[in-house]
Formats: sequence, structure tokens, C-alpha cells
Amino acid sequence: MELAHAAKARPQEYRWALDAKQIVMFFEKASLRTRLTFEAAINTMGGSAIFVDQTQSPLGERESLADIARNVERWVSAIVLRTYAHETITEMAEVAACPVINALSDLEHPCQAVADFMTVEERFGSAKGLKFTYVGDGNNVCHSLMLTAAQLGAHCTIGSPKNYAPKADIVAQARAIANRTGGSVNLVNDPTVAVTDADAIYTDVCTSMGFEHEVTKRAPIFKPYQVNEQLMSHAAPHAVFMHCLPAHRNAEVTDAVLDGPQSVVFEQAENRMHAQKALLLMLLGGKKQGSGIRD
Ligand code: CP
Ligand code: NVA
Repeated sequence: MELAHAAKARPQEYRWALDAKQIVMFFEKASLRTRLTFEAAINTMGGSAIFVDQTQSPLGERESLADIARNVERWVSAIVLRTYAHETITEMAEVAACPVINALSDLEHPCQAVADFMTVEERFGSAKGLKFTYVGDGNNVCHSLMLTAAQLGAHCTIGSPKNYAPKADIVAQARAIANRTGGSVNLVNDPTVAVTDADAIYTDVCTSMGFEHEVTKRAPIFKPYQVNEQLMSHAAPHAVFMHCLPAHRNAEVTDAVLDGPQSVVFEQAENRMHAQKALLLMLLGGKKQGSGIRD
């Protein structure tokens, strides 16, 4: 988080940190923010991003994941993956000699969560002790937010419909982390209870990529969880509204909230780039400009 803030404040210091490094990005799902923020982060630190569109042929179909890893690791410094199955990422990481970064799977979206809590830190100074509420589907974004909130000592509440709670093993993992940091993880069904006195209210789409066949079934179930001005009125007066985007306007959030004064959604989107710069710097050990070393 510290490096992310530093990369945002002083980008010139990191201008050549990835000098001539090649990073490949295999994406099985659509992306605007994740693709562009990785490419911008890599390019502005002197590296090159190679994007491979896998939306028409899932990874592992033409050749095994292990064989892809054994080829690619000889040419590039890191692999960035956006997948359906989380196992595609973990299997690639087990075999590949270079770092493998999760750019979203059905299970988690960690790069998003780092940028989101960077945004929280900018607004509130620290996430420790803050009441952070996520309303909606207990999905990939929800899982990563819970884990990150717990690591930073925040009090995280998830307000989701019955049968759409986050996965029990991730809740248990987040609670174990929260026990060490002084944070907490609380699951409720009532959206009003979830948001009462919250410092930050976060939502995401009701139907994630890969679950499109459930749109009609989910719409009525998630209706009471829509973040609108009425629901926001139960939060703390200084509360921020957060969304990873893309948003389905007037479905999970109204225009009035998304475009309103409490919304920080475009700060979150901007911070994706700075947070991913920090991640790349940590994984690839780049040197600051002025260190005399350009590797
Ligand atoms: N928030 C996010 O990951 O956006 P994209 O799907 O556009 O990358
Ligand atoms: N939960 C959403 C996030 C998109 C950035 C999805 O997986 O489609």
C-alpha cells in the first residue's frame, strides 16, 4: 500500500523500474480497467505488455497449462491472468518459474481490492477500525475485499441475500486474519442493518461474468440490495460510495448515487494503475530511477 501511494505521488522515480521487461497478459474475460491499467503501469515503467485475447479459446484448450507456462517463462518476467476457473491461475503459478498475477478469477479479484483500500486510505488516512460494508453478491470482488479489509484491521460487514453469501472458507480465512489485526468480518442479510453507520459502502454487479444465464433469476432477489439515496441515508454522513465498475446503472446502484458527491468510483479506477505498479515493483524487483541500475 505504501509503495502504491509512493508510485502515485512520484511516478518519475519509477520511470525505468521495469526497463525492457516483458509481461504477458492472458485474458479469458472482457476487461477495460484491468487491461488498460496493467498496460499503462507496465509501459510507463519502461516495460512492455503483450496482451493475448483468450475470450474465444479458454487457456488449457489448445495445449496444457503446464506447457504454456514452460514456454512463456522463458520469454517474459511475469504472467497476468484473467480467468473463469481460479485453478487455472493456481496451476499456472505452481508450474511457472516467473510470478503469476490474478487479474480476476471467478473466486477472487485481489488487484481490485488493493486499489480500493488505497482509495479508502486516501479518504480516511487509514482503514484500521473503519466500518466497511459490501452490499450484494458474495462474489470474487467481495472475497478479495473481505480478505484485504481483514488484513488492514477494518470492520467488514457483508450484506447479501440468503444463498448469495461469500464462500465459507474465505470468510473463515478472513476472520482468522481479522483476529490478528483487530478487524472483524460480519455477515448479515438485511441491507439496512449492513449499511447503518458505515464509513464506506461498496457494491458490485448482481451477476458476474460467467453467470449471465442467471440474470433473470437474480434480478428480483437483489432488488432490495440496490444502493440508492434511501439506503445511503443510513450510512455515516461522511460515507463514501464504492464500486469496482463496470456498473449496471439503476440495477445494483442508482445514477444519483453513482454520480453523486459521495461516489469515489473513478478514484478507485485511477488507483488500479498505481496499485498495480506497486505490485509489479514488488514482484519484479525494479530499481528506482537514480539508483544507477536499470535492470
Ligand atoms: N473493475 C474491473 O476489473 O474492471 P474491468 O472488468 O473493466 O477490468
Ligand atoms: N464481479 C464482477 C467484477 C467485474 C470487474 C465480475 O466478475 O464480472
